[in-house]
Amino acid sequence: MKVALNINGETRTADLEPRKTLLDALREDFGLVGTRAGCEHGVCGACSVLIDGAPARACLLFAVQADGYVITTIEGVAPAPGELNVVQDAFCETHGLQCGYCTPGMILTAHALLARNPHPTRHDIVQAISGNLCRCTGYGQIVEAIERAAERLRVVNAQEAAGHANEEERG
Ligand code: FES
Ligand code: FES
Repeated sequence: MKVALNINGETRTADLEPRKTLLDALREDFGLVGTRAGCEHGVCGACSVLIDGAPARACLLFAVQADGYVITTIEGVAPAPGELNVVQDAFCETHGLQCGYCTPGMILTAHALLARNPHPTRHDIVQAISGNLCRCTGYGQIVEAIERAAERLRVVNAQEAAGHANEEERG
């Protein structure tokens, strides 16, 4: 089947077997190997991507089912090639990753949380990442990274809001 998927802001086309999972299509047909293959049956969260901004397990979806939705993979969150965004930066600073296998899924899950809740409590963060397994870190530094990213995003958003208010005042 021919599909045209909206991935990271671009329309990507491919001719796929209808039974091909979104996970396999992203990795094999679109070269987006940041989406990890872990358990491949919906348990570990390594394959998490955002579908219309909400975390989804790419191993549980057929690629053809994702037609018509906005798909974001880890490759789509950095501001520019070679740069890191606020959440990625925070993970590096707190050593929120070791082998890195769970990291793309964790970061995308954190993005979705921070987009809907700019003031997450520790409990909110733990709940949000509860479907993403990490074998290495013990989770503490991941939670710390998301807290740090939330703090920084609040500062950035407040500065942007103040900037807009000043512009409006100046007319
Ligand atoms: S690879 Fe999809 S949940 Fe584990
Ligand atoms: S950093 Fe290794 S699984 Fe999370």
